[in-house]
Amino acid sequence: MLKLSAKKTAGFAGDMLVYFLAESGKKTVSSSRSAIRRSIRNAWKSGDFTGKTGESYWFYPNSADKDFSARRVLVVGLGKLNEDENLCREQIRLAAGTAVSIAHRLKVQRLMAVLPEKTGLPAATVAESMAEGLILSNYRFDKYKTGHKSEDIKVRIKQCLLHDGGLEHSRVRQGMNAGKRAAEAACVARNMANEPGNGWTPAQFAQFARDVASASDLSCRIIDKSAMKKLGMGGILGVNQGSALPPKLVILKYKGAKKWPTLMLVGKGLTFDSGGISLKPAAGMEDMKYDMCGGAAVICAMQVIAKERPKGINVVALIPATENLSGASAIKPGDIITHYGGITSEVINTDAEGRLILADALAYGIKTYKPDAVVDLATLTGAVIVGLGHHRTGLLSTDDELVAKILDAGERAGEPLWRLPLGPEYSKQINSKVADIRNIGGKGGGTITAACYLQEFVGDTPWAHLDIAGTAWNFTEKSYVPKGPSGIAVRTLVNLVRNWKKN
Ligand code: BES
Ligand code: ZN
Ligand code: ZN
Repeated sequence: MLKLSAKKTAGFAGDMLVYFLAESGKKTVSSSRSAIRRSIRNAWKSGDFTGKTGESYWFYPNSADKDFSARRVLVVGLGKLNEDENLCREQIRLAAGTAVSIAHRLKVQRLMAVLPEKTGLPAATVAESMAEGLILSNYRFDKYKTGHKSEDIKVRIKQCLLHDGGLEHSRVRQGMNAGKRAAEAACVARNMANEPGNGWTPAQFAQFARDVASASDLSCRIIDKSAMKKLGMGGILGVNQGSALPPKLVILKYKGAKKWPTLMLVGKGLTFDSGGISLKPAAGMEDMKYDMCGGAAVICAMQVIAKERPKGINVVALIPATENLSGASAIKPGDIITHYGGITSEVINTDAEGRLILADALAYGIKTYKPDAVVDLATLTGAVIVGLGHHRTGLLSTDDELVAKILDAGERAGEPLWRLPLGPEYSKQINSKVADIRNIGGKGGGTITAACYLQEFVGDTPWAHLDIAGTAWNFTEKSYVPKGPSGIAVRTLVNLVRNWKKN
């Protein structure tokens, strides 16, 4: 949908031409066109528009005006441009989102966005952020809308052109393509999450991974139910017992070079979480189709990694995928399972299933691939929403260096995280009388005790856990983030991998 334009703004005969203006004196619109300058000056003088975040105005140029062939010209405020590069990136994404929401309201099909010139950011960064904002905000999930009800049909921008606004064309192209790859992958993750439980199953995770691998030179391996039995993956198998669909452990591998360190990513791919025998309440249970967002983030980040082939790093991704249902053979409270590697666990609550499937994947992945660092992502606990709301992802880790890398990657993406502690006092909460550990930690610190469970399976490997239960859907209100699944962590992971060597 997004292309770099070689056309002059005056020659663009589409539905809407968009300029971005900073609040303070910075000259972000450096068009030589006198008409746009005059318009902005007049808007400014009237006091109606000062360039603040969220502000905008548009006008309909006269057909005799040689400066414009577009039907409408929109001017959007960027706000006072921040000194901090990451905050500035976010300002551009937000302004792009504001432009797109106006375009949607006016049923705009063809849009040209002119990059702001003097922002203080490198040209590639401006283009990258703009591309992300435009693509992420133009997202809609209407696959199941047949048009049966006419009011359901919502428009999306069909063609979006990016004009370099006077910035170096080749840098703009490079930045735009980077932003496009990451944002499009986040939209794919949103699609997976929007799919209902009967539209996105463990088998579909496996098929997607095979497709990614065959379109690139990633290698793909699917561990199926019979192989899981041989390997002794009692966690995934235990959770899967109540489901009619077989589980999958999906593995994708990007091989850079032998001498480079290996990062292992693990994502919870619970395609529907009913709670199992410890059944969840009916109200809102439909939201549990989103319980695969960790897996979606990991697999979609791998899709970008496959295209970019980053230097200085190897990446292996594991997605344990199953449903958690309460069929006749379902696991029961009190049952004891044996994880891959031999640790036994007393399943007190079958709804604390995410940690059970992740434990097998972590232990197996570390044993098999001997990674230098491990990052897992999961919609793991309701408790993280109590603690951090829908505004930040919970981060728990045994390694300060890894934490610094992840916090930085998240800030860059506009996907902030907040670190929570680990410690023996919390780990004690998952002691069991009859097995090595139990799967819930009792009152208090639910997000932390869930992470403590995972910690039992990572040994000394530097490890970080991202609890995205609050941010994977209904993420904090932003112009470029719709209600529903956010595609969280796809761009954070892409940044983490892109900058692995630099940090
Ligand atoms: N998938 C849920 C976590 C969740 C809850 C995600 C709300 C998004 C919104 C997870 O499997 C779960 O059910 N966790 C339980 C753990 C409890 C039984 C210790 C929870 O958080 O209630
Ligand atoms: Zn659950
Ligand atoms: Zn769950």
